[in-house]
Amino acid sequence: MEKKIILSGIQPSGIPTLGNYVGALRNWKLLQSEDKFCYYCVANMHALTVRQNADELRERSLGMAALLIACGIDPSISPLFIQSDVVQHAQLNWVLACNTYMGELNRMTQFKDKSAKHSDNINAGLFTYPVLMAGDILLYQADLVPVGNDQKQHVELARNIAIRFNNAYGETFKVPEPYIPKLGGRVMSLTEPEKKMSKSDPNPNSYISILDEPSVITKKLKRAVTDSEGRIAYGEGRFGVNNLLSIYCAMTGKNMDEAVNSFDGCGYGVLKTAVADAVIEEIQPVQEKYKYILANRGDLESVIRDGAERAAEAAEKTIDLVYKKVGLR
Ligand code: TYM
Repeated sequence: MEKKIILSGIQPSGIPTLGNYVGALRNWKLLQSEDKFCYYCVANMHALTVRQNADELRERSLGMAALLIACGIDPSISPLFIQSDVVQHAQLNWVLACNTYMGELNRMTQFKDKSAKHSDNINAGLFTYPVLMAGDILLYQADLVPVGNDQKQHVELARNIAIRFNNAYGETFKVPEPYIPKLGGRVMSLTEPEKKMSKSDPNPNSYISILDEPSVITKKLKRAVTDSEGRIAYGEGRFGVNNLLSIYCAMTGKNMDEAVNSFDGCGYGVLKTAVADAVIEEIQPVQEKYKYILANRGDLESVIRDGAERAAEAAEKTIDLVYKKVGLR
């Protein structure tokens, strides 16, 4: 049986939050199994859409690779690499850009959000970013792309580009599917729970970083915004309570009914403590492993080099096919 191919990426734009972990990274770990082959990438080229300090970007990219290993990626099985180390990402980008319509990119909600946030630097990269991401996916002929809800639209664009290219040039790309957790696909901010939790939010109380100390995690969750209803139940518009319950379910493996029943008659304080304990239990081992990996920097650098070599081998097959089809080779 042919193995299913998995690809995903994360930008080194800050320490991953609980949102990144629940929405994506945990699935990255869980999807590694005998019948699948996974590629995981630190999307440093994507991070350039916002002005970066070069030394910091290099350091953060390496740190992100260490964190991914700490989260359970086994780089001896799944190639783990830094995007710019595999030149084929840049090579595919141009061909795909010439097969993507402006109108499609105009509809991307993340472009609208990001250009509002960075109104002083609405660069062309911010606009064409979903094309680069489509290339990341199509380069490896991925079947599944484990992401949070906010990336669904980008994966759908990758599908549309693949289908369009296949129709024009003959079967070339596998058409990928997004893989999104039912609970925790969109973890919300703790301070403004109608907004998504984001690692680039200027207010650190709005997110839990996966490197936050246990006491900080407890403090942030205790302060999380809820509502005045006082009843622990999942309900329309109850963003804060829904968010805490979803995190709790994602961490404990309980479904929503079980979770709600287990808090019958309790106040929000009990819920918040339970969420904090569950989060700490899950991410404390990640933190310990992270420190160990970073302390062995030479090993980490060689893991990343090896990951890039293995990824490039697969990527080159696609580039060869594509360049021949379009007449560039
Ligand atoms: P990024 O770096 O913003 O986020 C990494 C992953 O975390 C998910 N995520 C969330 N999930 C649930 N709740 C949240 N609050 C939350 N915030 C973030 C994201 O959906 C994502 O899965 N463009 C991508 C990186 C990328 C990529 C790719 C992903 C580059 N190339 C190819 C998949 C395939 C991004 O900026 O993710």
